[in-house]
Amino acid sequence: MGVLTALVTGSTSGIGREVAMGLLEEGYTVLVTGRRHELLESFLAEARSKKGKAISHAADLSTDEGIRSLIRKVREELPRVDILVNNAGGLVFAPIEKLTDKDYETLMSVNLRAPFLLSQAILPGMKERGSGLIVNISSVAGTEAWAGSSLYSMTKFALRGLTGSLLAEGAPHGVKAFAICPGYVATPMVSGAPVPEAEMIQTSDILKTIRYVRDLSPYAVSPEILLNRLGAFS
Ligand SMILES: NC(=O)c1ccc[n+]([C@@H]2O[C@H](COP(=O)([O-])OP(=O)(O)OC[C@H]3O[C@@H](n4cnc5c(N)ncnc54)[C@H](OP(=O)(O)O)[C@@H]3O)[C@@H](O)[C@H]2O)c1
Repeated sequence: MGVLTALVTGSTSGIGREVAMGLLEEGYTVLVTGRRHELLESFLAEARSKKGKAISHAADLSTDEGIRSLIRKVREELPRVDILVNNAGGLVFAPIEKLTDKDYETLMSVNLRAPFLLSQAILPGMKERGSGLIVNISSVAGTEAWAGSSLYSMTKFALRGLTGSLLAEGAPHGVKAFAICPGYVATPMVSGAPVPEAEMIQTSDILKTIRYVRDLSPYAVSPEILLNRLGAFS
């Protein structure tokens, strides 16, 4: 097998950055993406000392053109994709009457439309080659809903639905898909949360979870992994 490749969306920050950097350390060629050019540049600078190769592409996944441009970049730069991590996501937490049409369009596009279209573009090649892994970053908010979580929970519940179908369609061809549903992870997304960072899940836990499922034997898969904070149980 030649060089392994991965696409990690939302790799300018938080979970995506950790996962992309971890895969680079293992020698993967990784396509990193997000909107913030300066963070893509700093990722590329840090990536120079790693074993693998990083390629960047700035794209706004809240727009159709942004998603399409990323798909074009994948086709140009990655001969095949071994791991797709649908990680980019936005969070709006507010009572339903406070949510705007723009909130709706943005979250539906970044959290759902992008994973759907990227999976649609990438799964066929994985099936043809008889291997591949699609990881969707859902949330505990994709397993239960609270006051204020309507829009975010809708997208994260739906992402689990997408994951189930990807696994069912991929499995006969040796392709795996799984969803991770974490509670608070220490990233900028939840910097205002009423929990100290040290008591949150760490981004390294998400990387370890992806490696764990990836490294299972060919016929073993965990369709969903709920990863919660210890504090959520006390
Ligand atoms: N942190 C948590 O507690 C937690 C818990 C459960 C699930 N999650 C999920 O984990 C995923 C990663 O979040 P994180 O915690 O790592 O947050 P983060 O540090 O804020 O990172 C979010 C990433 O998504 C990208 N992104 C957001 N909007 C985008 C857009 N319109 N176009 C392209 N990229 C966009 C951001 O890149 P740019 O800003 O550069 O565009 C950034 O790289 C999300 O799907 C989130 O819902 C997080």
